[in-house]
Amino acid sequence: MKANELRKMYVEFFEKRGHKEIGSASLLPENDPTVLFTTAGMHPLVPYLLGEKHPEGKRLVDVQKCIRTGDIDEVGDDTHLTFFEMLGNWSLGDYFKEESITMSYIFLTEYLNIPVERLAVTVFEGDSVVARDNEAAELWMRNGLKKEQIYFYGRSENWWGPAGKTGPCGPDTEIFYDMGKEKCGEDCGPACSCGKYVEIWNNVFMEYNKNEDGTYSELLQKNVDTGMGLERILTVINNFKNVYETDLFQPIINKIEDITDTKYTEENKEIYRIISDHMRAATFILGDFKRIVPSNSEQGYILRRIIRRTIRLVKKLGVNRNIVCDIAEVVVENYGETYSELFTNKAFILEQLEKEYLLFSKTLDSGLKMAEKYFSKLEEGNRLSGDLAFKLYDTFGFPIEFTVELASERKINVDMPAFEQKFKEHQEKSRKGAAEKFKGGLADNSERTTKLHTATHLLNAALRKVLGDSVYQRGSNINSERLRFDFSFDRKMTKEELEQVEKIVNEAIEKGIDVMCTEQTVEQAKSDGAIGVFESKYGEIVKVYTIPGYSKEICGGPHASNTAELKSFKILKEESSSSGVRRIKATIG
Ligand code: SER
Repeated sequence: MKANELRKMYVEFFEKRGHKEIGSASLLPENDPTVLFTTAGMHPLVPYLLGEKHPEGKRLVDVQKCIRTGDIDEVGDDTHLTFFEMLGNWSLGDYFKEESITMSYIFLTEYLNIPVERLAVTVFEGDSVVARDNEAAELWMRNGLKKEQIYFYGRSENWWGPAGKTGPCGPDTEIFYDMGKEKCGEDCGPACSCGKYVEIWNNVFMEYNKNEDGTYSELLQKNVDTGMGLERILTVINNFKNVYETDLFQPIINKIEDITDTKYTEENKEIYRIISDHMRAATFILGDFKRIVPSNSEQGYILRRIIRRTIRLVKKLGVNRNIVCDIAEVVVENYGETYSELFTNKAFILEQLEKEYLLFSKTLDSGLKMAEKYFSKLEEGNRLSGDLAFKLYDTFGFPIEFTVELASERKINVDMPAFEQKFKEHQEKSRKGAAEKFKGGLADNSERTTKLHTATHLLNAALRKVLGDSVYQRGSNINSERLRFDFSFDRKMTKEELEQVEKIVNEAIEKGIDVMCTEQTVEQAKSDGAIGVFESKYGEIVKVYTIPGYSKEICGGPHASNTAELKSFKILKEESSSSGVRRIKATIG
């Protein structure tokens, strides 16, 4: 079975049972500063799990793009990935354990034709806070599972969430596929990592909220959140041995073979797999509407890390030219119909990969030479000093994980505490920068800041007009003196461009245009051409501010009622904010 067919079958199965399909949210979480990426389908649904009414109702189904960097060291084995798609069905205060378990059972055994004896499930054994989940176990048995197929585990295995530090969570029942191998020992069960059991689906009974202080309170409603990894379930139902055999990976593997003139053999299988996984993740991160670019902090750092690791692995295959763009193109082709943002952002994806390649390939060789020199002075089991690891980072752009990987290939350790010490100062600086960057919005709602806010919209629109649609808001901050606007663009603006932008904004002011506000769903707003940073919450009603002929943006307001109130607009400064991000300070009146 192919991925497209399975996605469709899953969604239709739940649609027939009263669920409404919702689109995948962004990979970059909207409202949760505690995580860098969307790690599960539940992430964008947190407000609704907490009780807010979802416009599409109480039963939802989706296919969500996810990134989990926690598994990055496992990538290369048969099943672990950084990017994956999660099939999910949701009850927001509607059905609970019985329907959830029964539907999962029917889908797996009747639609995917998995023989019941190949299933094993785990349930929560209970602790001092939450009781043993005998109900779930009984429901599985009622559906036809034998007692021996049901395993009870504690919190480490059968408790899910929250996705960040706080939020909805609860006991779960996980469904495994038994690969048919012998048990590796007496204790072998679904929690064992010998490869006999592969987790395919997780049904979480979300009835609790984890609070700041670590305590749990009951949620207003009992929810069900299920998640099934698309790549894994495809592997299982096709009787494949690993996720790379699925049609989600085959075109990528074939492409790597073609352009490197090497083969996907046992010997370089791991390199192929890591390249395929990382390039899929990088393409999706770059393809997201949020316009993340490789950098030295937060999501940008993860992106940089996976691209740079890929570049080095390509080199290990003996190829010394940029093939990351060719691989990304295959990912775009393979996924673009399902995730149209990849088509929309294709040029941006390729441009950023090319840039990162050029940046890193310049220092990679000399960095590798330098690293080799450092290592040659050490013996197996020795430690590379924090200073030298930092030098590789600072001078040659080697992400620390990359240095650790190089070192471990020579059985050398890295003095991480010393490195971290060195790194801390730098990190704190960028964290502060990031906090600033995302703070955005209005410092106060005085008349002047309101007008500056309207000027910000005009500026955003003018920048896009002059520099193109790859310009995207990355931060906004307003005080009574000036506006400050950060946007994605990777070079200094010319004097002419700045003048042109200023001219467009002033022209809009002179025309004295009424600023209009309407309320629409995100989807309507988007299809009307509104820009804004809230693309992901499907069905949500948002305010759209329009300055006809100039700007249309999803925004909470408030705004001036007519552009004439701004009197005039002047750019004070254009400078770099961080890699790939420019900053403009400007004022009005
Ligand atoms: N949130 C659960 C998981 O990620 C089920 O969707 O496994």
